[in-house]
Amino acid sequence: MRVIDAAAELRALSREWRREGRRVALVPTMGALHEGHLSLVRIAQTEGARVIVTIYVNPTQFSPSEDLAAYPRTLDRDCALLNDLGVDAVFAPKRDMYLPDHTTWVTVDGLTTGLCGASRPTHFRGVTTIVAKLLHIAEPDIAVFGQKDYQQARVIERMMRDMDFPVVIRVGPIVREADGLAMSSRNRFLSPEDRAAARVLSRTLFACSDRARAGASLAELCAFLDASLADRARGELDYAVIAHPATLGEIRDLSEGALIALAMRFGSARLIDNILIEPQK
Ligand code: PAF
Repeated sequence: MRVIDAAAELRALSREWRREGRRVALVPTMGALHEGHLSLVRIAQTEGARVIVTIYVNPTQFSPSEDLAAYPRTLDRDCALLNDLGVDAVFAPKRDMYLPDHTTWVTVDGLTTGLCGASRPTHFRGVTTIVAKLLHIAEPDIAVFGQKDYQQARVIERMMRDMDFPVVIRVGPIVREADGLAMSSRNRFLSPEDRAAARVLSRTLFACSDRARAGASLAELCAFLDASLADRARGELDYAVIAHPATLGEIRDLSEGALIALAMRFGSARLIDNILIEPQK
């Protein structure tokens, strides 16, 4: 496995692979890898492509009040895991990927205003800007993202479409702990009490999904969601939203399905989770 620090070296390697007739798949991460990330790598590998994992804690997607300094950095462990998995290259730039006087941003309007965008107004422009940079550097055929960051995946797909990026986006399913908690690099910040309490996220989503499958209406689902979240001892709710799965906007019924998305803060950890509801006939 090659561990690369320089953008030019990564681009040259990717071009070499493509000259050899190989496809290239990119899995962008911020490191502190867990099984959720590794599942995305396996998806990339099933494409028969050379796989590049990027590890970069992107400062522009954190607001000044967020946990950039505290974000876990475990590069040696991450590289060992990726090497064991048979990844072809890791791009782990040591320097800042932005020049001190950079002024260019890639922004996606609309999709970025609700859900996480409401409480993190500058987050998605940081994500789209760094993802655009990584795609320009690595020039992959495929890029893989996780459904846990559902809004992020939709926003990146929109950027691809609107900016004519010739990259196929794959979205891998959420990987959960045995008790249902969605895997996240931030779970390590949970106290034992918060770790137990954080199960409310997946428990609520699964219960909503069961009710929707049993024929609950949108109004019934909203009432159930509110009641389930009201009945909790810990965790500060950021949002609980039932939205259109493509536009992320409001819906009147479940005829086109729905996204149920939650964000909650437990101590210093802000956790997100979601589930998709099938269209109701
Ligand atoms: O999902 C993440 O880990 C990050 O938002 C990403 C896509 C690597 C961009 O920094």
